[in-house]
Amino acid sequence: MDWIEPLSKRDFENKSVLELGCGNGSLLFHLANWKPSQVLGMDLGAGVHTARNNLANFPIVRIVQGDLVTHVSNGYDVVICIGVLHHLKVPKEGLDSVIRNTAPGGRFHCWVYGREGNGVVRLLVEPLRGVCRYLPWRITDLIAIAAVMPFYMYAKLLTWFKHVTQLQALPLYQYAMWIGKEPFKFFRHMAFDQLIAHRTIYISQSTLVDWLASYAVIDKSTVYIIQRNGNSWKFGGQIKSG
Ligand SMILES: C[S@@+](CC[C@H](N)C(=O)[O-])C[C@H]1O[C@@H](n2cnc3c(N)ncnc32)[C@H](O)[C@@H]1O
Repeated sequence: MDWIEPLSKRDFENKSVLELGCGNGSLLFHLANWKPSQVLGMDLGAGVHTARNNLANFPIVRIVQGDLVTHVSNGYDVVICIGVLHHLKVPKEGLDSVIRNTAPGGRFHCWVYGREGNGVVRLLVEPLRGVCRYLPWRITDLIAIAAVMPFYMYAKLLTWFKHVTQLQALPLYQYAMWIGKEPFKFFRHMAFDQLIAHRTIYISQSTLVDWLASYAVIDKSTVYIIQRNGNSWKFGGQIKSG
């Protein structure tokens, strides 16, 4: 729900839903319980096979392998795109697809890494990512474990001392408060996930404002851009009806 808010269960009930870049289907696994009328998950990668297995008990869900950038449909009532646009060569082309595939009157919702609040990550992760793309995944996993260990201790310390308000000015504070509740394996997964992505483009709030303003079909009164954990953005809105 944290990823999807401000959308909630009632926005999905009896609605057709499209997830662009569904990965292993972990979000759809939850959304499928919110009584949508039909669901399509699309992903470029081999994760579609896992997604099909994960969602095998939901006859209303279909998973297809394909490039979201070129996807064309008659339009869905709700289109979500979570953690994907920032990995595309041209993120705006992904958003074009989100908007194109949302039906008149339908809603779209995306989540991206923010340029704001990620200075330390950009400084430390980007050089490592450059190296890791040439390494086998098991080596990247070892690098992820070593690289994330200090951040794990940092986040745990911040959560233990959350009553010390002066600490709130420290880098990645809000993100640390969120992830600090998780076990080490979650940190390891997050670091591995960062390092195996070939590219990440950190997107600023002003870029999102410009992008959203550029689509005449969006009802501007419905647009939202919400910061999440101090270092990422949820944004979305509604397409004009008719
Ligand atoms: C970080 S994962 C997010 C998965 C899922 N949305 C979630 O939140 O669990 C990013 C996904 O985007 C997919 N992806 C990247 N580029 C894509 C493209 N051009 N078309 C479709 N999927 C793409 C990747 O294969 C990967 O599964």
